[in-house]
Amino acid sequence: MENKVLIAPSILSADFSRLGEEIKLVEKAGADWIHVDVMDGVFVPNITIGPLVVKAVRPLTSLLFDVHLMIDDPVRYVDQFAASGADLVTFHVEACKNSKEVIEKIRTNGKKVGISISPGTPVTAIQDVLDKVDLVLVMTVKPGFSGQSFMAECLEKIGEIRKKYSGYVQVDGGINEETARGAISAGSDILVAGTAVFGEKDYAEAIKKLR
Ligand code: DX5
Ligand code: ZN
Repeated sequence: MENKVLIAPSILSADFSRLGEEIKLVEKAGADWIHVDVMDGVFVPNITIGPLVVKAVRPLTSLLFDVHLMIDDPVRYVDQFAASGADLVTFHVEACKNSKEVIEKIRTNGKKVGISISPGTPVTAIQDVLDKVDLVLVMTVKPGFSGQSFMAECLEKIGEIRKKYSGYVQVDGGINEETARGAISAGSDILVAGTAVFGEKDYAEAIKKLR
């Protein structure tokens, strides 16, 4: 059966001491994109990786690098992540004063643009830029950490976006074999998964189960 759902393993749950190898393994296992969670300790209470790490692992795979910026005032770092090899840069509407400025900055760098909403943010917050982005990321956990439980109340927003938007609708947080079904039927076409891929022994089997 033809199934167009894409799987983007989040390297936040990978073994960082073997990061390059982990990326190659998920590519071999059938991953579609590599999801990179960038956190600054300000927008979210966690600090993860920066442009140097993206640059170091970028040559190891031909998969699309999906960089999820969970940083305050993201416009400041777009150039650096683009130069490091991000193909798609997603930022949070809650983290910036002017979304259009960030979108413009990402476009100027020739990259795909994503905009994200946290669980407490309504779809109306991104309404005026929907026609300017390639992807909308609906967070189904509070951004900051992997391994949290899926917030089913966010599914409604996926459906609401899907109705009026033809780009990618990505879902991120608490995705597993079970929650993936609800996200896909609500209209999501890209699933981010950290624990549900890197927490399993057989990555290929784990990815197959999510589709
Ligand atoms: C959370 C990150 C997610 C996280 C997902 O802030 O944006 O990408 O790594 O991890 P799981 O799939 O374990 O919820
Ligand atoms: Zn993410």
